[in-house]
Amino acid sequence: RPFVEPVPLPALYTSFGFSIFALLATLYIIPAVGPAFIKANLKGIDLLKNDKVPVPESQGLVCAAVYILLLILFIPFAFSDAISKAAEKTHEGISVIEFPHHQLSVYLSSLLSLLIATMLGFLDDVFDIRWRHKIPIPIIASIPLLMVYYAERGNTHVVVPIPLRFMFGTLVNLGPLYYLYMGLLSTFATNSFNILAGINGSEVSQALIIALSVILNDLLYLPWPLDFRIPMHLLGGRMDVEVGGVWKAGMAYGSQELVERHLFSFIVYPARAFPGDTLCYVTGMAFAVVGIQAHFSKTLLLFFIPQIFNFVLSCPQLFGLVPCPRHRVPRIDHATNLLHPSKALFMKPPSRLASVILRILATLGLTELTTHPTNGTILEANNLTILNYFLLRLGPMNEKRLVQVLMCSQIAGSLFAFTVRYGLAGLVYDG
Ligand code: UD1
Ligand code: MG
Repeated sequence: RPFVEPVPLPALYTSFGFSIFALLATLYIIPAVGPAFIKANLKGIDLLKNDKVPVPESQGLVCAAVYILLLILFIPFAFSDAISKAAEKTHEGISVIEFPHHQLSVYLSSLLSLLIATMLGFLDDVFDIRWRHKIPIPIIASIPLLMVYYAERGNTHVVVPIPLRFMFGTLVNLGPLYYLYMGLLSTFATNSFNILAGINGSEVSQALIIALSVILNDLLYLPWPLDFRIPMHLLGGRMDVEVGGVWKAGMAYGSQELVERHLFSFIVYPARAFPGDTLCYVTGMAFAVVGIQAHFSKTLLLFFIPQIFNFVLSCPQLFGLVPCPRHRVPRIDHATNLLHPSKALFMKPPSRLASVILRILATLGLTELTTHPTNGTILEANNLTILNYFLLRLGPMNEKRLVQVLMCSQIAGSLFAFTVRYGLAGLVYDG
């Protein structure tokens, strides 16, 4: 049963207006504040360019600030329906309409998570936070979100695929495990963006394609053919969602805004501004928040296929089995301007476990090893990232081409996600 709750029209129009404003504001502010960021030592050297001019870093802070401020300004518009109804229906001067407090708490808890993500990202830009701190902070940051989910008696049931129903039945209640999963989703979304980075346009294009996929997914939820008499339905319909129209408007606005604010740095190569960790964390958290609050985290994860691949492949380096240099970006040969896979060097021989894992990865064609000519110990391995993997499989290429390959894989991932979600899902789930 499609659940359609109209979005208040003022909210819809305002969200479009705000999105355009956000685009113009970031387009104007980013070039304007660059020198100030460099002065404040928020700068980086492009690792894959010959000229070592400092490029302003952490420009994601501008995007996050514009985004969050506009989300805050948006609150009265999001609740315009409740406000106007309350004004209409009064009894002896007191409103008799119950204000949708739960929707407001959904909205505010989402804002809180975005703010913490901004803070974490910015601190990471300034101080280079350690891995063991970066992983748990987003989990803690998601607690308000989970609490609101709980207070709304959020669903913790998952529908069991048909082939497994003889064992588990139709619905399984995951209970606390579902909350754990949602907490982990927020740390995954934030960190996985950050480790698929380092070539111009990679951070931005990932977010852009995922945001477009989220918008398309929203549109597919609409009751087609659309009833154009009720434009309010636009952005409204979402099955089995209990969250009201407010969040949907916020969500639509959010994804719209994500698309637009990324456009700037996306089209610019070579980069004149780095998004920094701030942008990676904020975009990741924005997706996690939307996935959790609008109850489509499984579909959302399908849009993260390249990030999941990169994250899983990175695990031996993230968890210290294989040495992890400060930068794992591909190596550039300045003579030809082509990128080659970069290497992790073993100062001491790898552990048994590490050797086994690396040999399996090498057999699967995911990395390339340099071994000792006589005793066969591993001396070097390609850094375990999707970018190095592309270079290994497709041969050396320039930076621009590598971003295009990454974008193609992200688009292919989304197409696969839609096929699974809307095609194959029918085979394992009943319509
Ligand atoms: C993550 C990656 C690291 C990668 C780095 C690049 C892991 C565990 N960490 O680290 O391997 O090298 O991101 O962002 O996978 N830069 C460019 N070109 C770009 C974007 C960034 O050269 O298009 C360089 C700049 O020098 C910039 C720096 O990367 O200053 C930013 O790196 P930072 O975000 O601090 O690295 P991490 O997120 O810690
Ligand atoms: Mg980073």
